[in-house]
Parts: sequence; structure tokens; C-alpha cells
Amino acid sequence: MAPSDPHALPTSVDFAHSLLQSRVNSGDWVIDATAGNGHDTLFLAHLVMPGGRVFAFDLQAEAITSTRARLIAADALAVCTLIHDSHHHLGLRLPAEAKGRLAAVVFNLGWLPGHDKTCITKTDTTLAAVQVALEWLRPGGLLTVVAYPGHLGGDAESQAVATWASSLPSNTHEVRHLCPANRQGKSPECWAIRKRLS
Ligand SMILES: C[S@@+](CC[C@H](N)C(=O)[O-])C[C@H]1O[C@@H](n2cnc3c(N)ncnc32)[C@H](O)[C@@H]1O
Repeated sequence: MAPSDPHALPTSVDFAHSLLQSRVNSGDWVIDATAGNGHDTLFLAHLVMPGGRVFAFDLQAEAITSTRARLIAADALAVCTLIHDSHHHLGLRLPAEAKGRLAAVVFNLGWLPGHDKTCITKTDTTLAAVQVALEWLRPGGLLTVVAYPGHLGGDAESQAVATWASSLPSNTHEVRHLCPANRQGKSPECWAIRKRLS
């Protein structure tokens, strides 16, 4: 294996995490919209502890099981609520007082690594979910989306996210896009959207 390079530029997931790291604090409420194997859920749990809450969604029972195991091993389950449902139902599954209170909503699209590659995020539910997520963010809240244009089925979804994010009004939302410019269409890309304070 090649030695790791401490000065390599951030990957899309690194970029999302670095933005979250400086904007999510203890006591905050956040969503992991795609729990998967729980890496992002645990990352968020560490940011909101003590006193905060992570609501983590996944459609697959295996993902919920895997995330629960990771959280238990890290003694972080107590601040997390695991929800076995599609993220586009977040408005139905979160307590009403979460509306307008969320500091961040995190999407990492695609399939559960090591599992069925046909169970992937889908354009229509992803678009419905990012839209409702924006509505539930607090002013100053951050939405991050890591999308995979190079994966089977990920191309159209990534394009739809790009079209949606690019069309958000600039007076209400800041929008940033990180992608490897010399590998466009092949590597994961990150969208970061911040709801302006007013
Ligand atoms: C790339 S993985 C997420 C990786 C994860 N964040 C981690 O840190 O391990 C994508 C996940 O999205 C889940 N997923 C697919 N469609 C979904 C939906 N409509 N709602 C919630 N989760 C969904 C998949 O089951 C899969 O576990």
C-alpha cells in the first residue's frame, strides 16, 4: 500500500467533515441522513456531546445494526436516535421542536459499502429529502451532500443535486462545491449549503 500523504488535499468526505467540525457544537441537534456503517453518525455524535442529539436515518436494517454496533463500541449510542426509514420522511419522524433547530444535515449518497449495490439512494427521494432538510435547518445551519457521479446510478442523481443546489437563491443560501477538477464525473464530490442568518 502506498504511504499516506499528510499534505494531500481533502477528499469530499474530509471537506464535509472539516466544515461540520467548526460549525457543529455540543448541545446541537443534527441529522445523519444516510447512516450506512455509522462513520458519519459517530463523527457527529462526538461533535454534539454532551447534551446534543443525532437523528440517523437508513433504509436498510443492516445499516442500522452496523451503526448501532459502532456507536455502542464508542459509548456514543445515548446521544443518537436511529431511524429505520427513508430520509425524505424526516419531517414525519423528528419531533416537531426540531424544525428550524437543526445545526446540520449530512448526506453521503450511494450504497452501503460491503452490501447490496442495488440498494442505493435514488434521485427522487434524495431531492425530496434535501429540500425538507433545508426547511428544517436553523438559520446558519449547514447541509452537506457527498455524491458519487462515477457510481452506477449515481450519475443522474449527482446531476440532479447539482442542478438543485445551483438554483438556490444566493440571498438566502451560500452554496459551495468541491470536486477533483481533473477527475470530473469519476470521483465523489461535495456540496455544502449554508442557510444564511437572515
Ligand atoms: C454511502 S452509504 C452511507 C455511509 C455512511 N454515512 C457511513 O459513514 O458509513 C449510503 C447509505 O444510504 C442508505 N440509503 C439509501 N437510500 C436511502 C434513503 N432513501 N433513506 C435513508 N438512507 C438511504 C443506504 O442504505 C446506505 O447505507
